[in-house]
Amino acid sequence: MPEAFSSQTVVDRREAPGRAGGRQRRRLQALYKLAAEVASLRDLQRVLDTALRHCLSLTESQFGFIGLNTADGSAMDVAAIQGFDAMPEFYQRFHLIPLRPNIFARAVLENRPVRSSDAAIDPARVGQPSGHPPVRTFLGVPLRLRGRVAGMIGVANRPSEYSAEDQDLLTAYASHVAIAIQNARLYEELKAAKSDLEEQVAARTSELAEAKEALAQKAAQLQMLLIETVNVQERERERIAHDMHDGVNQLIIGAMLEVKAARERLRSGEREPVERALSQIRSVLGQVDGELKRLIFDLRPPTLDALGLADSITRYAERFLISTGTDCAVRVSGPTRRLPPHVEIGVYRVMQEALNNVALHSGARRVQLSLDFSDGLVQLVVTDDGRGFDVKAGRNGQHLGLLGMRERAERLDGELRIDSNPGVGTCVTLRVPAAPGASV
Ligand SMILES: Nc1ncnc2c1ncn2[C@@H]1O[C@H](COP(=O)(O)OP(=O)(O)OP(=O)(O)O)[C@@H](O)[C@H]1O
Ligand SMILES: [Mg+2]
Repeated sequence: MPEAFSSQTVVDRREAPGRAGGRQRRRLQALYKLAAEVASLRDLQRVLDTALRHCLSLTESQFGFIGLNTADGSAMDVAAIQGFDAMPEFYQRFHLIPLRPNIFARAVLENRPVRSSDAAIDPARVGQPSGHPPVRTFLGVPLRLRGRVAGMIGVANRPSEYSAEDQDLLTAYASHVAIAIQNARLYEELKAAKSDLEEQVAARTSELAEAKEALAQKAAQLQMLLIETVNVQERERERIAHDMHDGVNQLIIGAMLEVKAARERLRSGEREPVERALSQIRSVLGQVDGELKRLIFDLRPPTLDALGLADSITRYAERFLISTGTDCAVRVSGPTRRLPPHVEIGVYRVMQEALNNVALHSGARRVQLSLDFSDGLVQLVVTDDGRGFDVKAGRNGQHLGLLGMRERAERLDGELRIDSNPGVGTCVTLRVPAAPGASV
């Protein structure tokens, strides 16, 4: 390796072979010991500080520094400095050494060791910041990482000038320091990646815990809904049984009695009472027919299959007005069309539950139903001017109507929104995707 030179540069006074050999061996042993110590360190700053201490002791220098090139390659950042007590502000101000061709930066720029017997009068000298002790003897060696110069080690003010052996020793030691720096950087990257990974794992774990909690809540709600559905079915069967018993059954019994009376009168040849009885029977059968239609409508609205959503909702609103006395206006907009049966019944049932709630809880005077068909979407809005309620509080209770509406919306890949405020009224909005189909 060729040496850098300056006018003050070095006379290579290698010592006589015998004595010199023993000294060199001792210094090499010291070097390997120190190299092993620095190689065992993981923290970059400790590597740099320990290495610099070793450099000073190996070369009997008064002070020194380790500079690492900045990312843009325009300067060296003094990563470790030892041998004089600089004020922190001094370091703050002067920690960047510009990479210009002067005695201190040449080791980096020219990728070779630089020695000077007196830096103060060296032709490549450069002024030093005020507060820096004067540099006399100087030795700088490049730090090579992965075959490229990544910085340097500079030592100064050895009482006698630096020899070629000092230079060889520092160069050899610098290669160990470079490996230790590389290892420490890799270790830091690894540590950062590990903590990043740990953060990601922690975040994912808490997301999973939240999702698990949400699933458990959902499962509990579904369970409640299932139980309630079975109860509702039972209650509905009971109601239909009662209705049939009190309504249809009584009417049929009445009609049978009329038939019996008419037969007796027929035997006695009375024509007119028989005709009266027959017309009575006809009227009773008419009532039976009406009663059965009502029951069938409750089970599954036949209008839905025959007329579609818009007309069925309009008819339901008319019946709602008759049975509750609450004014119920319907507005249908957009290209009205038939939707898949499961969508039509889903929207219809949400409308039913919303109107049930209006009748049971709102005290409203008016309710407005809007059904809007647009491309790929059907929207139902039920707005009442009743007393309203606290939607969040309602969600926690045992009430299943709203929950059931939400479940239906989800099953249809749609969304349900409830806007309500006590004293202001309630607005239930259901939006369901519905591919354009045949217009009605
Ligand atoms: N339109 C409305 N106006 C005022 N309050 C309402 C309205 N809709 C719902 N609520 C309030 O929200 C609560 C929950 O309604 P939800 O339909 O879930 O249950 P419910 O009607 O009480 O019982 P069910 O499970 O039989 O439907 C009601 O008890 C009522 O207090
Ligand atoms: Mg309800």
